[in-house]
Amino acid sequence: MFEEAQYFAPVATGDDGSVVVELAANHPGVSDPVYRARRNAIAEIALRHTPGEPVPAATYTEQEHAVWALVSRELAGKHRRYAAAEYLHGCERLGLPADRIPQLQEVGDLLAPLTGFRYLPAAGLVPLRDFYGVLADGYFHSTQYIRHHSVPFYTPEPDVVHEVIGHANALASDRFAALYRLAGAAARRVETEEALEFISKVFWFTMEFGVLAEGGEDRAYGAGILSSYGEVEEFRGMDILPLDLAVMGTTTYDITKYQDVLFRAASLSHLEDVVGGFWATCDDEAVFRLTAGAVPARVGS
Ligand code: TRP
Ligand code: FE
Repeated sequence: MFEEAQYFAPVATGDDGSVVVELAANHPGVSDPVYRARRNAIAEIALRHTPGEPVPAATYTEQEHAVWALVSRELAGKHRRYAAAEYLHGCERLGLPADRIPQLQEVGDLLAPLTGFRYLPAAGLVPLRDFYGVLADGYFHSTQYIRHHSVPFYTPEPDVVHEVIGHANALASDRFAALYRLAGAAARRVETEEALEFISKVFWFTMEFGVLAEGGEDRAYGAGILSSYGEVEEFRGMDILPLDLAVMGTTTYDITKYQDVLFRAASLSHLEDVVGGFWATCDDEAVFRLTAGAVPARVGS
């Protein structure tokens, strides 16, 4: 199965309609009853959401808003040093609040006039084909809970900080938004699970963990690097390989750690040509040809 399946906590609904989110034994919030109750309450919001209706607001606690304010402040400084110019341009256009968690409805209201993107609430894992497919229509499935306050610099599962600070700032850029839409169209076009997995890996090594060369240094544009103020300090020391579709699409990764293999585009136009060009036209046959004889990058060691 896809690696992604592991990092979303399973959500179960009891006979009485109560929602229970299961957290992994090593999750920083697993033995915090207050956090567990918050996770259950927030998952319930997503389960109750009817497509087409506004996204219901989550009422966040003061402590949760404080986690956002802290992470948001730490990241803003690191973004100036380490983020790609086009991402910073997105930040400037979007204007997210720095002192409180924005509602997903509000994020969509800010984004829609810029690039047409809207946020949808996700209780847990969204099947890959739906998650990517709806990107083609300008919808982004997002978690709504926030990381545990004890480990603000990194979380092993995507949270609202990652979805909004990492992804919405990129989605506020016309050029990145176009790439996300192309990934969605590609995911809809292919028929086999193998081709879908290949497309999702290319997405992982670009829109989630991509790096590009800018003014002689490496700058991050991937949402997974840019939402972690621990990881964003480390990415320049990782193995950064040249952009290569066949290698990205066949390399495996460990989602629970800082990514130690990354791929560098020579520029944003290079990313658009190689990855955008691939997503714009790829079909099962094209993916199959790329996979045959591909040598995955060595990961870990
Ligand atoms: N590590 C990221 C952060 O701290 C969040 C995250 C967890 C993530 N799993 C991911 C990001 C998978 C991208 C892909 O913000
Ligand atoms: Fe993500």
